[in-house]
Amino acid sequence: MSERKPFIAANWKMFKTVGEAVAFTEAIQKEVGPLVDREVILAPPFTALAAVRGLMRAEGYRLAAQNCHWEEKGAFTGEVSLPMLRDVGCDFVILGHSERRHVFGETDGDVARKVAAAIRHRIPPVLCVGEKLEEREDGRTAAVVERQLSSALAGLGPSDVGELVIAYEPVWAIGTGRTASPEQAQEVHASIRERCAAVFDKDIANRVRIVYGGSVKPDNVDALMAQPDIDGLLVGGASLELASFRRIVQFVKL
Ligand code: PGA
Repeated sequence: MSERKPFIAANWKMFKTVGEAVAFTEAIQKEVGPLVDREVILAPPFTALAAVRGLMRAEGYRLAAQNCHWEEKGAFTGEVSLPMLRDVGCDFVILGHSERRHVFGETDGDVARKVAAAIRHRIPPVLCVGEKLEEREDGRTAAVVERQLSSALAGLGPSDVGELVIAYEPVWAIGTGRTASPEQAQEVHASIRERCAAVFDKDIANRVRIVYGGSVKPDNVDALMAQPDIDGLLVGGASLELASFRRIVQFVKL
């Protein structure tokens, strides 16, 4: 198995002013220090991207946006393009987050257009997939995740993958305090890796980082990270407080 550096991301959603984002960015680097065996990715709101980028000095810290539009420019009031994200120094862009899909009505087609555009602009996507509660209860988890993956990855070849990250985020676990068990998450992660082997090839499948999101907390992080196909975490609520995010970043290898 190839080395997959753990990818621990703070998705701040629509939280934190520029001042709050700046204070957090300085504090986490000071308290945790440079990183060698893991990466920390901060995903502030658009308004704080430039300020956070300007403060990222320690090794191992990287910047992500939470969304983008697929067009380069145009009359799209309220949208932000990939060249704009490049301009502020984004390393990644989160795409297809369940809140984008289910609160703002993004379709598989929208997500696919965004993924293709991000790859074209060489900003690797953090592609989010995951089933709703009723889909899990109906035994459709694998089919839903496969549909989302196939649609988002359609038309991409092995040379497009780059640093693509896939986030498995069961919708019923996001912000609910209800985490998937490590075994439930591992099962889906392993199937995502198999799918990547089928769509691309085995080497790429072994290289792609597949991260888990959904009520990750200091008390479940170590067990989640002990699973062989869980290569990192996308953390919402618990990333807002320095103490809890710090503990998550400093997960212990069991
Ligand atoms: P949560 O959010 O950790 O608050 O469940 C995760 C996410 O939405 O990425």
